[in-house]
Amino acid sequence: MEKPHAVFDRDWEWAALSEFAADRSSGATLGIVAGRRRQGKTLLLQELCAATGGFYFAATEATEAESLRLVAHAHAQHTGLPVPLALSSWEQACDALLALGAGSDIGVPVVLDEFPYLCRASPALPSIIQKALGPRRSERTGSRSRLILCGSALTFMGGLLSGAAPLRGRAGLDLTVPTFDPRTAAAFWNIDDWPLAFRVHAVVGDTPAYRREYVRGDTPVDASDFDAWVCRTVLNPASPLHKEARYLLAEEADIRDPALYHSVLAAVADGHSTRGAIARYVGRPDDRLRHPITVLEDAGLIVREQDALRRARSRYRIAEPLITFYHAVIRPERSRLQRPEAAAAVWSDSQERFASNVLGPNFEQLCRWWTATHASPHTLGGQPTRVGSGVINDARQKARHELDVVATDSSGRILAIGEAKVGTVMNEGQLSRLERIRDLLVQTGHDAGDARLLCCSARGFTPPLQQAATTGRATLVDLARIYTGT
Ligand SMILES: Nc1ncnc2c1ncn2[C@@H]1O[C@H](COP(=O)(O)OP(=O)(O)OP(=O)(O)O)[C@@H](O)[C@H]1O
Ligand SMILES: [Mg+2]
Repeated sequence: MEKPHAVFDRDWEWAALSEFAADRSSGATLGIVAGRRRQGKTLLLQELCAATGGFYFAATEATEAESLRLVAHAHAQHTGLPVPLALSSWEQACDALLALGAGSDIGVPVVLDEFPYLCRASPALPSIIQKALGPRRSERTGSRSRLILCGSALTFMGGLLSGAAPLRGRAGLDLTVPTFDPRTAAAFWNIDDWPLAFRVHAVVGDTPAYRREYVRGDTPVDASDFDAWVCRTVLNPASPLHKEARYLLAEEADIRDPALYHSVLAAVADGHSTRGAIARYVGRPDDRLRHPITVLEDAGLIVREQDALRRARSRYRIAEPLITFYHAVIRPERSRLQRPEAAAAVWSDSQERFASNVLGPNFEQLCRWWTATHASPHTLGGQPTRVGSGVINDARQKARHELDVVATDSSGRILAIGEAKVGTVMNEGQLSRLERIRDLLVQTGHDAGDARLLCCSARGFTPPLQQAATTGRATLVDLARIYTGT
C-alpha cells in the first residue's frame, strides 16, 4: 500500500501498519499503537482508514453510556445505517466492531483512538476485548477486523500488553510512533542551513505537530530571522507553542501534585541531574521523588542515562527540547511575557541562559546521537553499542573530568571520547585535555588506548586544531557532519 503524500517520513511505521491491516488471514486481530502526544499517530491511522475503507473512532473524555452512543453514531455514519445501533454495553459494541470485518476477504482496520479515555470510564474494557477476541468465538473467526487501540498515555498503553494484563499475548502489532530524529526534523522544517536547523531544534525538538498546527507552518526564513521567529512563536503568549510545555505534563493522567512535577523538570532542566541534587532543588526528601521521576520517565519527558564510565551512576536529562526551553527561558519570565511587546527584550536578556542551558545540552545530545547512529565504523574504529556521557575522577590531581561523548563497543572497549563545545571555536588545548583524559582512562584500567578523540564544535576549529586533525590526532565533528556526514 503506497504511503499517502500527507505523511512525511514514517515509511517504517506506515509499512508496519499497512501490513497489519492488509493481512488477509481469517479471524479478527488486535494491534496497539502508542507514542507521545503530537507525533502523528492519528494522522497515520486516519490515512490508513481512508486508504482502506476502515473505521475510525476518536474517543473523548465521556461516561460509558455517552461513549457507546458516540461509537454507535460513528458506526452508523460509516456503514450508512439510517438509525444508529442502540449499544448498551461494550460487549455489544465489540461485536458490532467485529462485524465490520465480517464477510470481507481483506483486512478492515477498526481504530479506537484515545483508547485510555474509554478505559477510564470503563476499566473492564481490556478484558471485554479479550473475551470478544476469544479464539473460538464465531464473531472473531468470521471477521477480518483489524482492531487497533491507540493512545498516548505511555504508561497505560505499555501496561495493556504487559504482565498479567488481559490483552497480553493477543496483539499482532505493537507499534510505538517515536519523535522524528534531528535529521528528519530538519528536513521536515525544510531547513538546510545547519546552524539554523540546530537552533530551531533546540527550541522545538523533533515533534512534527510543532511545525504544523502549533506555528501554522511559520519557519524562520533564514538565520537572520531566527530571533524574530522565536519572538513571534514560542515567546508569544497567543501561540499554542507557548503553553505546550505545561500542557505536556498536564495531560499525564497519573499526576496529582503538578507543582512537584514542574519543579522536578525545572531542576533537571537547570542541570541538577542526580536524584539527590533534584531533591535538594525541589526541597523534598530524596525517596519522595521516586514516583514522580518514574512517571516523568514513563511519559517520555525525562530519560535516565547510565554514566558510560561508572555503571552504578546515572543521570537524568530532559528528553523534550521544548521543556528545556520552557524552563530556561519562558518560566523565569512568565510575568513579563504576558505582554507580547516584551518578547524581544526578554529574548535579548535570556541569551546567556539560552546558550548555556538550552544550546549546550542540546548540542551534546546531538553529538551523542550522531556518534551512536551515523558515525561510521571507519570514523570510530569499530561499531559502538553504547554511547553516553561519563565522568572520571583523577585521584592524583583531585579533579573530576566530564566527557560529553563516550562510545564503547560490545566488548567494553572505548572506541571514542569526545568534547562538545557550542559557543567557542575549539582549539588545541581542548584536544590536549582529551589526550590527558585518555591517558588517565588507560591508567585506571579502561581499554581506551586506541580511543579516537572527537572534537565536536558548533562554532568551528582553530587552524592548529584543523592541522592536528589531518594527522589523525583528532576527529573534527561540526554541524554539517552531524546533519549530513558519517
Ligand atoms: N509524518 C507526518 N507528516 C506530516 N505531518 C505530520 C506528521 N506527523 C504529524 N504531523 C502533524 O502533526 C499533527 C499532529 O499529529 P497527530 O494529531 O496525528 O498526533 P497524535 O500522535 O495523534 O497526537 P495526540 O496524542 O495528541 O492525539 C498532524 O495534524 C500533522 O499536522
Ligand atoms: Mg491523536
